[in-house]
Amino acid sequence: MKTLIIYVSFHHRNTERIANEIAEVMNAEMVKPEEVKIENILSYDLIGFGSGIYFMKHHPSLLKIIDKLPVVDKMAFIFSTKGAFPIWLCHMTIKRKLKQKGFKIIGEFSCRGFDTYGPLKYIKGINKGKPDENDLNNAREFARNLI
Ligand SMILES: Cc1cc2nc3c(=O)[nH]c(=O)nc-3n(C[C@H](O)[C@H](O)[C@H](O)COP(=O)(O)O)c2cc1C
Repeated sequence: MKTLIIYVSFHHRNTERIANEIAEVMNAEMVKPEEVKIENILSYDLIGFGSGIYFMKHHPSLLKIIDKLPVVDKMAFIFSTKGAFPIWLCHMTIKRKLKQKGFKIIGEFSCRGFDTYGPLKYIKGINKGKPDENDLNNAREFARNLI
């Protein structure tokens, strides 16, 4: 199954670590939104969308890619790292957008990531060391279940 992962990870590269694990298991290509060519996306069978959660959503550049896509009949999976919010809340926006574009969502993965945003820096952040080995193993298990 030809798989593409589109990801954004700028805060502490937490999500990039998860994306690397998934990509290795699935033998998937990894790209950032600015590298994506819309017409190329359409040649993949399965597309993974992942980023940190910023203000309760995936990164705007990732969401914008979905807006640019035509309606398709394809499979997608979603992943993220986040500070503390629950997965159902963090994935709500991207899920809605993907469904509107005809994607069948075959899996979702999320774990906590080191977070020093805003006032959190004064307490040296939360989720130090996350994602950890356990999270990376869980990401690999998630990827194995997708294929
Ligand atoms: C600007 C900003 C906004 C954030 N907003 C949220 C949020 O609404 N909910 C949450 O749980 N975490 C939030 N976080 C924490 C990040 O989701 C978390 O640190 C994530 O692992 C960052 O991923 P990255 O290192 O791949 O960028 C925010 C972080 C930043 C920098």
